Amino acid sequence: MEYRGYDSAGVAVLDGAGALIVERKAGRLANLEAALDEVGRDGFGGTAGMGHTRWATHGAPVDRNSHPHRDASGQVAVVHNGIIENFAALRAELESDDIELTSDTDSETAAHLVARAYSSGPTEGDLPASVGAVCRRLEGAFTLVVTHADDPDRIVAARRSSPLVVGVGEGETFVASDVAAFIEHTREAVELGQDQLVVISRDGYEVTDFVGEPAQAKPFTVDWDLSAAEKGGHEYFMLKEIEEQPEALANTLRGHFDGGRIILDEQRISDQDLRDVDKVFVVACGSAYHSGLVAKYAIEHWTRLPVEVELASEFRYRDPVLDRDTLVVAVSQSGETADTLEAVRHAREQKARVLAVCNTNGAQIPRESDAVLYTHAGPEIGVASTKAFLAQIAANYLVGLALAQARGTKYPDEVAREFAELEAMPAAVQKVLSTVEQVRALARNIADSKAILFLGRHVGFPVALEGALKLKELAYMHAEGFAAGELKHGPIALIEEGLPVVVVMPSPKGRAVLHAKLVSNISEIQARGARTIVIAEEGDETVRPFADELVEIPAVSTLLQPLVSTVPLQVLAAEIAKTRGYDVDKPRNLAKSVTVE
Ligand code: F6R
Repeated sequence: MEYRGYDSAGVAVLDGAGALIVERKAGRLANLEAALDEVGRDGFGGTAGMGHTRWATHGAPVDRNSHPHRDASGQVAVVHNGIIENFAALRAELESDDIELTSDTDSETAAHLVARAYSSGPTEGDLPASVGAVCRRLEGAFTLVVTHADDPDRIVAARRSSPLVVGVGEGETFVASDVAAFIEHTREAVELGQDQLVVISRDGYEVTDFVGEPAQAKPFTVDWDLSAAEKGGHEYFMLKEIEEQPEALANTLRGHFDGGRIILDEQRISDQDLRDVDKVFVVACGSAYHSGLVAKYAIEHWTRLPVEVELASEFRYRDPVLDRDTLVVAVSQSGETADTLEAVRHAREQKARVLAVCNTNGAQIPRESDAVLYTHAGPEIGVASTKAFLAQIAANYLVGLALAQARGTKYPDEVAREFAELEAMPAAVQKVLSTVEQVRALARNIADSKAILFLGRHVGFPVALEGALKLKELAYMHAEGFAAGELKHGPIALIEEGLPVVVVMPSPKGRAVLHAKLVSNISEIQARGARTIVIAEEGDETVRPFADELVEIPAVSTLLQPLVSTVPLQVLAAEIAKTRGYDVDKPRNLAKSVTVE
């Protein structure tokens, strides 16, 4: 689970003789492994235990802020994901009770509160009831996993707005925030609902609500296995995931055009509701947001509906104009991103319809949406999104076609034609992948640059933004993406001798006017000393004189070009990061699922 956060890690094991043994270490999981080797792993035997990898929210990534946290007596161990929003008040309450907190985290309060609830009062001696009572007092988002040395055969876990799944094995049971944690042991899983608590024991598992009433959780079978989450001979997951993009696209498209119609995976609203949509918002973060920016061009073109693309973290704080005829498309690989989830909730409160585009079956965002289209990119482990991004673009396009079909702005044969073009994309991406050696060599060559700029127009603009984001997060380099036409309104002042500038060219045939304008833009920056790296359609001869480096991509229709032009930019960022000696899968300060706002 290290990809979810790698600021620190820890384990707690109940040794069967009534002792709770805990070891925690700041930094990567390897640090914890080394610490465990030092104390001797034999000392860590037991039949119940927990582990945690942390992405710091409250308190620096140091040993004492690492999970599991314990109460003062050392009897209770807790791991926590999410943010306890009322932790300051809880902390003050504990301190006024003379309880000394030893970390700066919000999570530690939960350990003390559970210990107190277990030691006296109505929940005395009852661990599940104690945890339930504490959960009822917590505000914010949390997944908690709790053990008590006095109750060594049970682990209690609970969730609110943060994921929790149970893995049901033979003679063993797991709880985790993602099935990837136990897929090696079982594919049978149970997904806990909001405000539910699970007790796992020798006899299996039992789900209740926070007051102890039996509750229904959703069993499911994981449809991928461990090999999908292993590196398959690659140095980094990200490199494997870049190569998996043709398959991710094909899998995402599969089954979504049947009987001459685009089919969503889940639709809990009527066809009439889809027909009545008069405005579309796409809400998402990071790369998913960029996939929305790309989709805007297609959805507006195909449906004639106005489309606004908005950062999920901004959306609900500015009172957007929403009503029953608004469709909010929430795009999220993980389906857990807190900003996007809150945007979904806000949209639904305002009566808008929500359609989720998500890569994780049954995650919170699709569960809270009115319709779902899954991207079948498979598990994405590398923190920087690659195959999920391409799959999101394809899925967003399917959403656009579904709307065009519902509204009748495209005839069925036109929808079929667009879908057929999409179906040709896995082969086109495969073709780009066979030419990445040139990009790698180029990357090594410019790896010590101070900054790199990315330019594009039309759908090439979000591609430029995505290229810059990849470089920032992986290579820790200053990178900016611009709409090329904006250059002369300010950013051209950044151009200096030798500065690499990556330009994403539109097709000279498909977008001749834009192409000509972009050629002028390149010549302007070249004249000012920039080193131009041009991503252009094969056979585009007009651009050649202006390209210090020319990277050719297959000719595809304009709206689909981001699916091929993004790939060299992913490779460029990964190779520059590698050359600079960074861990491509785990860039600093980041986590794969951002479950806090
Ligand atoms: C960048 C990246 C992030 C995510 C963003 C949204 O490479 O991976 O920007 O795209 O955090 O995540 P999801 O799609 O899980 O909502």
